Order: sequence, then C-alpha cells, then structure tokens
Amino acid sequence: MDSSIKVYRIEADEADRFGLLVKTMWMEAKETGSLLGWSGATDEVIEELTSKDVIREILVQNMVYVAEIEGTLVGFAALRLLDDEGGELAGIMVMERYTGRGVGSELFRNVLEAARKAGLSRLIVKTERDNIRAISFYKKMGFKLVKETVEKVADSEVAIVILSLDL
Ligand SMILES: CC(C)(COP(=O)(O)OP(=O)(O)OC[C@H]1O[C@@H](n2cnc3c(N)ncnc32)[C@H](O)[C@@H]1OP(=O)(O)O)[C@@H](O)C(=O)NCCC(=O)NCCS
Repeated sequence: MDSSIKVYRIEADEADRFGLLVKTMWMEAKETGSLLGWSGATDEVIEELTSKDVIREILVQNMVYVAEIEGTLVGFAALRLLDDEGGELAGIMVMERYTGRGVGSELFRNVLEAARKAGLSRLIVKTERDNIRAISFYKKMGFKLVKETVEKVADSEVAIVILSLDL
C-alpha cells in the first residue's frame, strides 16, 4: 500500500469538509463527462444534494470513510447497514487524478473491516451497467454479478447491475 494514503471515518460534525469533497468530485465528473450513477446531474441537483442537511444525513445514515493524501481529501466510500446480515457499499469514488494507485482498494479495505466488525455476512453494490471501470474494480474486490435491472434515478431510467460479496 502507498503509505501516503490515509483512510479514516468521517462523521456528521465534519459535514462541511465532506460536503466540499463531494461537490468537488461531482463538478469534476460533470466536466470530464465520466460515468457515474448520477451522470444526469445538473448544477441545481448538485447544489441540492450537497446541501449541509443532505450531507449531514448521509454521514448519519452511513459509515463514511475518506482517503487523504498529503492533507487533501481525495476520495470516499460509504457503508450502509441494510439489516442484521447485509450491507451496501453505498458509494465509492476517487478523484480522477488520484485513481489507479490503490486509493479505492484502501477505502474498500476499511469498509470491509467495518462490515465484518458489524457482523455482516454479505455486501452488495449497485452501479451503472456501462460503468466498466467500477465493475472491474468490484470484481477485483471479490464481488460477483447477481442481477441486472433498471432503476429510476431523478426521472430517468438507468440500466444498473447489482453485485454481491459474501463476507
Ligand atoms: C472505481 C474506483 C473507485 C476505483 O478506485 P481506484 O483508486 O482507481 O482503484 P485502485 O487503484 O485501488 O484499483 C484496484 C483495482 O481495480 C481495478 N481497476 C481500477 N481502475 C481500473 C481501470 N481503469 N480499468 C480496469 N480495472 C480497473 C483493477 O483490478 C485494480 O487492480 P490492479 O491495480 O491490481 O490492476 C475509481 O475508478 C472511481 O472513483 N471511479 C469513478 C466513480 C465510480 O464510478 N464509482 C463507482 C460507482 S458510484
């Protein structure tokens, strides 16, 4: 592992810091046209979804881990508990210029550890069917494809895949 990558849990009292990271990443994704579950996001949608209340709620409802390199937040991963047995990797994202150097793997390692500590036996993750890079990442992390379906995201229909990992 690259020793400059620090991963730790971020909680609701740091909503401002986390909100800024999410907003920066969203803007970046929009500019580069990269594939995301939220690829249709407009500026208004981004503003709404990164408001302090929404961000705080995300941090309350999920266990969120952030990755920091030399004092800069460069990515996050969120674990949501679904029931006693299962959890969802509710989002994982690394700033484009920091991808491909192990940040995602290190974030996921922390999520996995938290899921095991919480006594979960299964993790699922959803992503867009066309998000080849994410699917390849999830498969490398041990996930197996279990379902293809269509979900409504902000008024449009998105083809998604669901992958699952036994812990
Ligand atoms: C998916 C994502 C989180 C991976 O993060 P990352 O820090 O680049 O991942 P890592 O460097 O730890 O790579 C781990 C493994 O993932 C796979 N992987 C990573 N990038 C890949 C690419 N461009 N093509 C194919 N496989 C890739 C490889 O198997 C890699 O292992 P290797 O380095 O031994 O080949 C990152 O690409 C990302 O943020 N993408 C945009 C957001 C997104 O799509 N999130 C998921 C859906 S919301």
